[in-house]
Amino acid sequence: MKKIQKINRRKFLQYSAFGAVAVSFPGITNSMSSNWKGTATADFHPDVEIELNMRAVKIPILDGPQTLVWKITGDVLSGPKDTVVNLVDNYLAPILNFRKGQKVRIFLRNYLPAQSILHWHGLHVPAKMDGNPMYAIDQGETFVYEFEILNRAGTYFYHSHTHGVTAKQVYSGLAGMLIVRDREEQALGLPTGEYDLPLVLQDRSFDQQNQLHYSNHMMQRMRGFLGEQIFVNGRPDFVMPVASTAYRFRVLNGSNSRIYKLGWGRSFPITVIGTDGGLLEKPVKVPYLMVAPGERYDIWVDFSGRKADDQITLKSLPFEGGSMMGMMGGMGRMGGMGGMGMGGMMGRRGGMGGRMGMGMMGGSLPLGGDYPLMRFKITKQVSQKAVLPSKLSTINKFREQDADNVGNARRITLSMRHMSALLNGRSYRMHDIRADEIMPLNSKQLISFNNGYYGGHGMSMPHPMHMHGEQFQIIERKVNPRFESTYETVSQGLVSQGWQDTVLVMPGEEVSIVKPFNDFTGIFMYHCHNLEHEDMGMMRDLLVK
Ligand code: C2O
Ligand code: CU
Ligand code: CU
Repeated sequence: MKKIQKINRRKFLQYSAFGAVAVSFPGITNSMSSNWKGTATADFHPDVEIELNMRAVKIPILDGPQTLVWKITGDVLSGPKDTVVNLVDNYLAPILNFRKGQKVRIFLRNYLPAQSILHWHGLHVPAKMDGNPMYAIDQGETFVYEFEILNRAGTYFYHSHTHGVTAKQVYSGLAGMLIVRDREEQALGLPTGEYDLPLVLQDRSFDQQNQLHYSNHMMQRMRGFLGEQIFVNGRPDFVMPVASTAYRFRVLNGSNSRIYKLGWGRSFPITVIGTDGGLLEKPVKVPYLMVAPGERYDIWVDFSGRKADDQITLKSLPFEGGSMMGMMGGMGRMGGMGGMGMGGMMGRRGGMGGRMGMGMMGGSLPLGGDYPLMRFKITKQVSQKAVLPSKLSTINKFREQDADNVGNARRITLSMRHMSALLNGRSYRMHDIRADEIMPLNSKQLISFNNGYYGGHGMSMPHPMHMHGEQFQIIERKVNPRFESTYETVSQGLVSQGWQDTVLVMPGEEVSIVKPFNDFTGIFMYHCHNLEHEDMGMMRDLLVK
């Protein structure tokens, strides 16, 4: 099975190097021809050229023995030197800095003892540049990406997207932040330089030898892998030294399955200025912020008035619907455990913490529990007063009527049963595109993700649904009354005003979006960004034509 796939793919590489059509399956031959090649094309004139190398290396993460990780490092071959910011002694991939309108060429070189491919999560690029698993390269091979940055300024994400092993590869280190900047945003005078910083949230578990522990047995596959320790920007017990002024933090949830309910230990709100696809129209204040795997939120945090040595803790606050109890569907409030759920129960018992709970219940950090993520420490007093603009951008707001299929939404039903996670009852298969998965080019589609809203049986879990390609807008969220009490623990932290490429769909919820399919034909994916669910098959291809 694996072998056959490999041969097909090799054939494809061979043929396409000659510009010929490699794989024949109906309807998508056009999208497979011409400009994708294993080498750079002569008629593409890049503004910036970089090289990214994927290698297995040992780095110091914890005290004691070094940790084997899968590390991406990069070099700028031509163009602005700050395009690639390598993170030394860190498993995270380099931060990539691009500008809107730039033409980018990336040589991805695989020195790993495995196949791999990188996907540019949130970027609107041609299908052949999107890092679909069918383009995975072997050890020693190079994939050449060429595309233009069409996206607005914002915080994006790139990571491995390799068939069946995305979760493991991302966990091992194949993921990083990608930032796009543009003139519009620059004109706002938002915090820049040392006041514009990433916050990459992840969870990891280690064995006694300081090696990354990952498992995907039945339990992890159904619920997702949870690490025992929180890592921020690749560091455990992270303390960020800050000055007493305003910051723009780019929050990226790069965890496999962990959902965060960001909040301050004290009761002041979180000011959100951007979502997956860039700035909001105006800042939005929420009492807490739900951040699901794959999502990004830019937040504005003003430390002015804080005294030297003040410490501020950023926490994940308790919520329901993500735990085992939530999985049973509408039973979150059963047996007088309301407001606490399995998360609180496990946390209080504590006994599940050790190795036994590792990756099962999330150890001492159950999903939906109450735990610190990191601390900020005021180390510098500055007098400069930063002002948050009341208007950030203009968003052309979609309404349901703007969709070409208004009144006839494409419904995608999320389900988990018989030890599998499905989209419209289907599992991922390469080259298996059904009629309802064909999107007309240059159309806007109304799509609704239904996670048990209409009832039904089986388990119900939160699913962060992601669609490749252009950013979409959330039109409506509806929750089945049976799930209301669970939903109430997260609803005020769901920001629906901006451009998104990933949306958290809670148990009992139906979320409708309008998504444009402009510019590029070919195959794009949609899937749950709980990476264990994705690898289990909760992923499908779409064909734009
Ligand atoms: Cu971030 Cu298809 O993935
Ligand atoms: Cu993506
Ligand atoms: Cu899922």
